[in-house]
Amino acid sequence: GAPAKVDVSKIEPGSMLTAEWRGKPVYIVRRTDAMLEHLPEHNDRLKDPDNSNKAQQPAYADNISRSRKPEILVLLGVCTHLGCAPKYFGEVKPQQFDASWPGGWFCPCHGSRFDLSGRVFQGSPAAANLEVPPYSYESASVVVIG
Ligand code: FES
Repeated sequence: GAPAKVDVSKIEPGSMLTAEWRGKPVYIVRRTDAMLEHLPEHNDRLKDPDNSNKAQQPAYADNISRSRKPEILVLLGVCTHLGCAPKYFGEVKPQQFDASWPGGWFCPCHGSRFDLSGRVFQGSPAAANLEVPPYSYESASVVVIG
């Protein structure tokens, strides 16, 4: 399939844009400084906090932000359980769900929860973190997926 080019410059901090690549949704989030700072805080409640499953991201995204540039996250919008599209919630207040989930993605099909790097929480039916597709920057504002 052809690569998908996406202008990420207009994504507001904390917001998500959905693109498409090879017939699949691709989620692109511009994370805030706070979102990035909070990533390490819940590592002990994740199934694979350190990206030990190397199939789920390219080598350049094998870091805590799971991305080339810390603020821009690129993920396949396909739940690693049975393929539903997880719903983006951004950061959530503790009373919105329960205090154990700081926000990210929630899969409406069977309740898998992912953090703001797409890492899966313990207690989710999904076993693997959301997949980071191959991508590069054509310029400061244009991401090429594929
Ligand atoms: Fe997402 Fe089952 S498909 S939890």
